Amino acid sequence: MTPTAHNSRRTFAIISHPDAGKTTLTEKLLLTGGAIHLAGEVKARGAARRARSDWMKIEQQRGISVTSSVMTFERDGITFNLLDTPGHEDFSEDTYRTLTAVDSAIMVIDAAKGIEPQTRKLFEVCRLRSVPIITFVNKVDREGRPVFELLDEIADMLALDVSPQAYPVGMGGEFQGVLDFATGRVARPEGPSKEFKGKREADVELPEKVAENVELAQIGYPEFDLDAYRNGDLTPVYFGSALKNFGVTELIEAIAEFAPPPRPQPAGEDTVGPERDEVTGFIFKVQANMDPNHRDRIAFMRQVSGTFKRGMKLTPSGLGKPIAIHSPILFFAQDRELADTAEAGDIIGIPNHGTLRVGDTLSETNKVRFTGLPNFAPEILRRVQLRDPTKTKQLRKALDDLSEEGVIQVFYPEIGAQWIVGVVGQLQLDVLVSRLSAEYKVEAALEAAPFATARWVSGDAKALDQFESFNRANLAKDRDGDLVFMAKSPWDVGYQEEKNPELKFSATKER
Ligand code: G4P
Repeated sequence: MTPTAHNSRRTFAIISHPDAGKTTLTEKLLLTGGAIHLAGEVKARGAARRARSDWMKIEQQRGISVTSSVMTFERDGITFNLLDTPGHEDFSEDTYRTLTAVDSAIMVIDAAKGIEPQTRKLFEVCRLRSVPIITFVNKVDREGRPVFELLDEIADMLALDVSPQAYPVGMGGEFQGVLDFATGRVARPEGPSKEFKGKREADVELPEKVAENVELAQIGYPEFDLDAYRNGDLTPVYFGSALKNFGVTELIEAIAEFAPPPRPQPAGEDTVGPERDEVTGFIFKVQANMDPNHRDRIAFMRQVSGTFKRGMKLTPSGLGKPIAIHSPILFFAQDRELADTAEAGDIIGIPNHGTLRVGDTLSETNKVRFTGLPNFAPEILRRVQLRDPTKTKQLRKALDDLSEEGVIQVFYPEIGAQWIVGVVGQLQLDVLVSRLSAEYKVEAALEAAPFATARWVSGDAKALDQFESFNRANLAKDRDGDLVFMAKSPWDVGYQEEKNPELKFSATKER
């Protein structure tokens, strides 16, 4: 690999509200890009695949994606790493973390619905990290809202400059294709299914109203500006239909041309750029093996710098001593499956038995610490009620494992024996109960806890001691032994903050 191999990487995610068409678009990107293999399929073969645990069933029943995966494809010398984010709003924590591992995002919007709540929430996470966004307005083969209304809504609701790069020639029954501004050609529907099958026409005479609007779209909105896009201040907007294959190639080309190669990552006061020789990366996700009989996990590392080679030794920050990475899962495009290296921007799956945790940095020198991978204050807290009291040890192990995976957060109260789990979405609780039973043979029920939220408390040792002695009934330790204040209400948090100005009450914890 050349020292600049990372320049050919595009690591991105798709953000959208459920039903906007993320799954359909993902499939089409992979088909057009000439696919790959899916991360979830790597380990699960034959019997193992059939023995998927109950939480996979939840996934099937509800028709939602609980697990993220990594999909890689190559086109015209560019390697695309698409990180799938669970679309369901209940799984936001996992989604947020995945967004820390990408360099850019595609925002998919349903042409009939515009900006929806989940789109907006995810957009805000991207904005926090200045992740550049390309917008794809989907389903233009159906009746949608007027184009200008959609463009203005994106601009107003997200406080973002919009720069249209295409225009749908009619929508719904009137749909006659999509005009691409860069080439001036119209992608045309063909056959009874009215799909795009590669027919593009130049010099098309557009219906008068459409021609007028196209002109307006080109002069009435800011021109595309690469710096503004990469700073997260402007979004180029494409129109298409994932279902009928319109706009998919244009989208891939836009990512190849405009989306940033691996960006430097924050590491305390410093940043680490992809050109650094040393191999570094951070774990943004840990996933249990699909096979419930095996305890091993796959940690997903976003590589930040260097050229990784199979068998290399890296030191996880949480462990302090090096581990040899002999059987990494490298998510290569098909023609490179035998390759043994990975570059900055790539994702490496590392099988392990619980040594690697979300937020860990891996590096050759153990001198780098990536920052900015938050734990979020849980919004739902429950007490875990064990049906068989002899299983306490198994329960503790299970809760530790699952919190390490980021499925739940666990709090061990300073007083009392009942452990508390915290989540940011209801669905995580269902996953918890079913995985406890399927994988750990622990039958447990969850009951209401008298707390509404939690805050990590830090500050001067003396002030902390005093606070602890007064509030023991509302204090717990998290899995790392860090002090957590369990609040009965948001008001309670405010009250303690006011009363203890020398202490910090944090809604997120960075590891
Ligand atoms: P998601 O992952 O964002 O949740 O969306 P998904 O791709 O599953 O798409 C949701 C529904 O929208 C699907 O219909 C899908 O076929 C449809 N869809 C996606 N892209 C387009 C498009 O470009 N045009 C049209 N007309 N439809 C599109 P479905 O499977 O029938 O689901 P449902 O209708 O039963 O909810």
